[in-house]
Amino acid sequence: MVSSKATAVYDEHADWYNELMSPTGGGDYIRRVHATLSDLLGPGDGRTCLDVCCGTGAHASAVAGLGWTPVGVDLSRNQLRHAAHRLPVAVADATALPLADGSVPAAVCVLASTDVPDYPAVLREIARVLAPGGRFVHLGVHPCFVGAFADRRDASRTVIDSRYTDRSHTFDSWNTTGVRARLGAWHVPLSDLLNGAAAAGLRIERTAEAGPDGVPDLFGFLGVKA
Ligand SMILES: C[S@@+](CC[C@H](N)C(=O)[O-])C[C@H]1O[C@@H](n2cnc3c(N)ncnc32)[C@H](O)[C@@H]1O
Repeated sequence: MVSSKATAVYDEHADWYNELMSPTGGGDYIRRVHATLSDLLGPGDGRTCLDVCCGTGAHASAVAGLGWTPVGVDLSRNQLRHAAHRLPVAVADATALPLADGSVPAAVCVLASTDVPDYPAVLREIARVLAPGGRFVHLGVHPCFVGAFADRRDASRTVIDSRYTDRSHTFDSWNTTGVRARLGAWHVPLSDLLNGAAAAGLRIERTAEAGPDGVPDLFGFLGVKA
């Protein structure tokens, strides 16, 4: 079911995004995403892992490589046109998943927390569909060091400004070539992210940070449903 409020803004950018997230387009960044995702998710012995906001399915191989059976959902039909070559997919809104309570052994949501206006609502919905003891991996841009408030032109000297507390959607970015400058992004401060997970009933078991030059550009956690 797709909520009337959600719009598939990636439809017009899907071919570009598919290339951006390819091994050639994404390079070290994609390798870092996959290594961090694998570290947090752990082995799956064939069970289903729901890839929420799966986009073009860029991480299906990493999830499958751990032994999980990935299944993707996303709002954008054009993103899913690419993803369908990589995993089974369905059109769905991450805040209204067409799945029964407690029906999914694992889920991931990668690089999408800044694409939804209310990420805590996504966390609540994922927690709803997770089985007791189910694993959820959040992986996204680092809330403290990536955003409109962060000048990363020299990553080793990342400069943060007072816009850290501004949660609004913006196209402001330190570069002109990324997702943020093209599609805009919301900001989810660290406390909102962790409080959202806790409020959803996810117990954080592990966290991870990764990035170049000692200033991480990725932050993730493994949450387990009580
Ligand atoms: C930056 S892309 C990330 C895609 C993929 N997870 C990856 O890491 O490459 C964000 C994705 O979130 C999707 N999205 C945004 N809001 C959504 C929603 N409410 N429900 C489902 N998907 C949504 C977009 O269509 C887009 O494909």
